[in-house]
Amino acid sequence: MEKHIVILPGDGIGPEVTKGAKGVLETVAERFGHTFTFETHNIGGAAIDKQGTPLPEETVEACRKSDGILLGAVGGPKWDNLPGEQRPEKGLLGIRKQLGLFANLRPVKGFDSLLHSSPLKHEVVAGSDLLIVRELTGGLYFGEPRERRNDGQEVVDTLFYTRKEIERIVEKAFESAQVRSKRLTSVDKANVLESSRMWREVVEEKKNNYPDVEVEHMLVDAAAMKLVTNPGYFDVIVTENMFGDILSDEASVLTGSLGMLPSASVRQDGLGLYEPVHGSAPDIAGQDKANPLATILSAAMMLRYSFGMTEEADEIESAVQSVLNEKYHTADLQVKGGTVVSGSQLAKRVSEQISEKVTTENIMSCYV
Ligand code: IPM
Ligand code: MN
Repeated sequence: MEKHIVILPGDGIGPEVTKGAKGVLETVAERFGHTFTFETHNIGGAAIDKQGTPLPEETVEACRKSDGILLGAVGGPKWDNLPGEQRPEKGLLGIRKQLGLFANLRPVKGFDSLLHSSPLKHEVVAGSDLLIVRELTGGLYFGEPRERRNDGQEVVDTLFYTRKEIERIVEKAFESAQVRSKRLTSVDKANVLESSRMWREVVEEKKNNYPDVEVEHMLVDAAAMKLVTNPGYFDVIVTENMFGDILSDEASVLTGSLGMLPSASVRQDGLGLYEPVHGSAPDIAGQDKANPLATILSAAMMLRYSFGMTEEADEIESAVQSVLNEKYHTADLQVKGGTVVSGSQLAKRVSEQISEKVTTENIMSCYV
């Protein structure tokens, strides 16, 4: 297959981690006989510095024409004092909105060898494996008006949703639950918010189309508590934009390794933007210390969700697991008896795992 991928390295450690993931994608292409072509564009602070805006039009155009987008991270102290509309984060919000990437999929699954770093007791966190489906292009993040008024003495943000916006994310969540453990928790604040009451109505309507999925409603405050007292309870969680932002950060630390978590932001036709859940970590940028595994796992999600390449995605995930089993890791992880390597060495080791398997298979095929 031929696929064209846009890389948006962004800021801080973004360029390093996307470079590592690109190398892995090239190895996958070689091994499976695909042609992946790449094009790099600016977003966030890097785009502010070079083009004077966090989201240049040429970046959006390139993404529109691509088959998949891989993003590093945006933001950093250098741009912290800019007004809201000109901040690096605006680039990320803008690309999600302009491309209509309404479904944010954030899987949280621990690696056994890293669970000891979790802030939770081993018996609480062991076996937790959940997926947060967060609505990404509506709600408080985008509702109008948003302004200061009355001489700056009043401020308003707006939580706005159309029924259609709720329907499509709820459908996506039911579909995701169908290919997992078939349990869906819809999280809202229906005891207070009108938008949550409409959210509940939509879930109740849609559930008839997915009789194999068991669904329940949970208030967001209770869900926040349950995530840390009994994370193994959850399979798929679906929720609106702001609740999903908060709950996904909370969930991301369960496994003890934020540097391992990938995410996908997709729309109905399969186009998606893939990025690690972690941020731009400006304190370690440019030192080749950053853990590239979350971005590599995000690239695996691109293969799975945008390109339908299941075997290739499985291959990347098992290569990451093998590298951890070999106890190679970057300094952010604590692995007993492990070897700390640089980010680029770790990414290279993942690539080697993928191509080594080719060699073994090729050798085997000589004898059959
Ligand atoms: C995330 C981030 C973004 C968000 C920020 C950087 C705008 O926190 O992807 O979760 O709030 O969506
Ligand atoms: Mn967030």
